[in-house]
Amino acid sequence: MDTLVQKIEEYKAEIKNYIAQKSEEAEAFRIKYLGSKGLVKDVMGEMKNVAAEKRKEFGLLLNEFKLFTEAKYEELKSATAGGQEAAASDMDLTLPGDPLPLGTRHPISLVRNQIVSIFQRLGFAVAEGPEVEDDWHNFTALNMPENHTARDMQDTFYISQNPDWILRTHTSSVQVREMEKGKLPIRIVCPGRVYRNETISARAHCFFHQVEGLYIADNVSFADLKQTLYFFVKEMFGRLSSPGGQGENVKVRFRPSYFPFTEPSAEMDISCLICGGKGCNVCKHTGWVEILGCGMVHPNLLDNCGIDSNKYTGFAFGMGVERITMLKYQIKDLRLFSENDVRFLRQFTGAV
Ligand code: PHE
Repeated sequence: MDTLVQKIEEYKAEIKNYIAQKSEEAEAFRIKYLGSKGLVKDVMGEMKNVAAEKRKEFGLLLNEFKLFTEAKYEELKSATAGGQEAAASDMDLTLPGDPLPLGTRHPISLVRNQIVSIFQRLGFAVAEGPEVEDDWHNFTALNMPENHTARDMQDTFYISQNPDWILRTHTSSVQVREMEKGKLPIRIVCPGRVYRNETISARAHCFFHQVEGLYIADNVSFADLKQTLYFFVKEMFGRLSSPGGQGENVKVRFRPSYFPFTEPSAEMDISCLICGGKGCNVCKHTGWVEILGCGMVHPNLLDNCGIDSNKYTGFAFGMGVERITMLKYQIKDLRLFSENDVRFLRQFTGAV
């Protein structure tokens, strides 16, 4: 009995000095002393070896030991849990979080969307076609039969598996696809990527983007074409507020030209927005920049696609999205559009 009392005293001294900094240490204490195989249980098991007349006295002692150990455990538990609470209260939950950088649309997408939406307001619908095209839709149906000089071999990418397949060289192929559907009137714009086998430089690339326009109905005239394109230029460039003589001052001119699929044909220039018409490298010192090709749909095209060329007339135009973007944002090198340098792309945050 005396050795047991001594043992309890030793345990009590040990318990009294027990220090816990983490909740895991408080738990280790519980297992060591109060667990099902802990020391308190162990000592209680000694009861059966105590003489009967001493049992009451020993029972009180044991009980007091148990309460003492439990109280210490509670103390350790709240001290270590309190530590976490203190750490949590150091946090200011009202502070703003770390901002996630937002991506931006590519300038080519921004301008393409803007071009499309201007024509949508005039009642044009959007049509699309494949980038891998066949000879018929890209050339033959467009009044460019085999051996026509306008089919410059060097400008076209051919698909090696099938000599009839190419990467489309212009979005005019979508015109053919729409006309073949035979639903009139047709009033569409066709945005898309086109490919030409050109050496990459500041002014040329092997792929770029166009928006094609096609309007076929009764009595469509060249005056309708001009008026539509004037409206486009005014909407596209007339709203710019940046300095440099833009806005009201942008001038437009049509020059006679040649395309196998339009007759008469023209190219449209606008006054150079980079130098304000005074002459610079972009306008090759002429003060004018070509932005699109256009004309009245050649009757052969209508016939090729099964549309009565005596009854219907139409106009078509095709513009380069890169060229318009360069003018709008004063970008002097075409290669920037495909290099994906975020320092360049980031500048278009919040642009229209
Ligand atoms: N397809 C011509 C080009 O790529 C542009 C164009 C389209 C011209 C429609 C006239 C009519 O250069």
